[in-house]
Amino acid sequence: MRLRLGSIIAQASLPMLTRLDPELAHDLGLAGLRWLRPLLPAHRVADDLKVRCFGLEFAHPVGLAAGFDKNGDYLDALGAVGFSHIELGTVTPRPQAGNSKPRMFRIPEARALINRMGFNNEGVDHLAERMTRSRYSGIRGISIGKNAATPIENAADDYVACLRKIYGCADYVAVNVSSPNTARLRELQARDGLERVLGALLEERRVLQSRFGKRVPLLVKVSPDLEPAQIASVGRDLRALKVDGVIATNTTTDTSLLDAARSARERGGLSGAPLHRLSLRVIRQLRAELGADFPIVGVGGIMTAEDARTTLEAGADLIQMYTGFAFRGPALIDEILGTLSAR
Ligand SMILES: Cc1cc2nc3c(=O)[nH]c(=O)nc-3n(C[C@H](O)[C@H](O)[C@H](O)COP(=O)(O)O)c2cc1C
Repeated sequence: MRLRLGSIIAQASLPMLTRLDPELAHDLGLAGLRWLRPLLPAHRVADDLKVRCFGLEFAHPVGLAAGFDKNGDYLDALGAVGFSHIELGTVTPRPQAGNSKPRMFRIPEARALINRMGFNNEGVDHLAERMTRSRYSGIRGISIGKNAATPIENAADDYVACLRKIYGCADYVAVNVSSPNTARLRELQARDGLERVLGALLEERRVLQSRFGKRVPLLVKVSPDLEPAQIASVGRDLRALKVDGVIATNTTTDTSLLDAARSARERGGLSGAPLHRLSLRVIRQLRAELGADFPIVGVGGIMTAEDARTTLEAGADLIQMYTGFAFRGPALIDEILGTLSAR
């Protein structure tokens, strides 16, 4: 009884938080979760929900998408709500403030967020230090990126610098080349960009693999705004480069998915319900291009158990959420796992 109290308080506080500025609500929610952690119930998940993917075993398919805990400050608290994996970051070599506030906007009637955070983070050293202190036993992904001040031509140096610092403590690494809030970042999805960044990362991994005695999978996170021909080309490149998996998708810049008044008002990446259809389109095409065995992590607009089901049916092996969790809290994980178990 005492243990269920934590879940009840966490759910009950959500309506209050949604009245605050979204970034403040996010920070307060995470601080509250850390405080409630000892009161959260232990999660027992049926063995048949286990997923083996890129050499790792996940307790079930549902994880937390990158950006929710950029610095690894809340890993243990987020782990206690029942995710099988948590993707921390995106982290950059040096700390940076990101864009000026306000930079996160809630659109409740569309069950969506727009953000233009701009990789605000404390830098890779901070994250690496937090990881050494964490007792979270689930899968730990780390999303890496480049500093805003680093010219795009030198982006590979930033990704490699991050990889070196977090290699020892990551279970997998996500290469973020798809955030819309860092100038020119998404150009790295084109062939020469992917070859430059991934070529450097894969070479560095060979060195780190023998130094650390473990092979950390490298995944690439892609944008939902790619045209079908671009998706085909990314698919070919990921296969040719022998990347371990793909995460589809990041946020979209197509805010015309919202009503005209809203889309005219805020710039940034749109996430949540309106993104779902775009993400599904990318996941379906990638599955067709990449074949049955290539690992795909599906993310974008998973707001219900039904959305989780369609994402898995589109070809995802694992799923992640950000906006759904921000709107619905831990109840969404329970709803999805309950529905998947029943199947
Ligand atoms: C406020 C905010 C910050 C985000 N920061 C990152 C980030 O740092 N790195 C990244 O790869 N994705 C980031 N994302 C994208 C999410 O990880 C996810 O791909 C996207 O929001 C789509 O999923 P959703 O509809 O479940 O939110 C961010 C999303 C939001 C809303």
